[in-house]
Amino acid sequence: MGMQKFDDQTHTIVQSSDGSFTAYSTEYGEHYHSTKDGALQESLQKHVIPALRVKREKKELNILDICFGLGFNTLATLEYIEREGLGCRVSIYSPELDSTLITSLPYFAYPREFEKYRDMLIELVQTGRYLDESWDVELFVGDAREYIKRFENHFDIVYQDAFSPATNPILWTQEYFADIAKAMKSDGVLTTYSIALSTRLALYENGFRIYLNEGEGYRKATIASLGTLEGFEPVDMEHKIACNPEAKSLRD
Ligand SMILES: C[S@@+](CC[C@H](N)C(=O)[O-])C[C@H]1O[C@@H](n2cnc3c(N)ncnc32)[C@H](O)[C@@H]1O
Repeated sequence: MGMQKFDDQTHTIVQSSDGSFTAYSTEYGEHYHSTKDGALQESLQKHVIPALRVKREKKELNILDICFGLGFNTLATLEYIEREGLGCRVSIYSPELDSTLITSLPYFAYPREFEKYRDMLIELVQTGRYLDESWDVELFVGDAREYIKRFENHFDIVYQDAFSPATNPILWTQEYFADIAKAMKSDGVLTTYSIALSTRLALYENGFRIYLNEGEGYRKATIASLGTLEGFEPVDMEHKIACNPEAKSLRD
């Protein structure tokens, strides 16, 4: 791989509070992860652990990872399942618009927990697919809005990890979450770092129940489901709406 390295004009590598590296996008003016919570910690605490806690008993899982970015949510899912010995077969589907980012991923400084997935990542980046007896990962280079329309009643888990609603509103609208709801199974679970009322409203207006994902060492996040979730504190959306009558979901 010679002298090539990850940094280019639109992505620079940045260390986060847990020691793991993330990137800063000059195009979007945002980091790929919360530098305060730490890239690896954020991925685990806000997405992977709560989602797999709900789906612990499942022997097969279909996961939508919006969007691939540096691939932390996908890689942390595989690592956590192996570490915990959950023994479930996982298919991950992940769209990503930025082809320059994807081709530079083999040069990224990943946490050592992900080192064993290096060859897999290279194959995924080069061919858009990785398949073995445990994992089936598809990396789709293109627009997530188009990609999600291909699926119906398919996903057990959705990691909603786009850039912020202010920066990338098209991946947070009521219409977007309508397509997500259709793509999910009726007992599917969606995780996101966003606790904005506009995000929760966009989900709520599509029939999601909204819950708080809260714990030690990371900022509050949201977990939502079209069904009921045990073990998470429900957010009283009618009360929030009554207290904030001006609040609105984003629209296309
Ligand atoms: C916050 S980052 C994702 C971080 C990622 N989950 C990780 O663990 O590294 C958001 C990603 O969404 C991508 N993106 C933005 N708009 C998109 C779209 N319409 N379709 C697909 N990907 C998009 C950006 O290029 C960026 O990589």
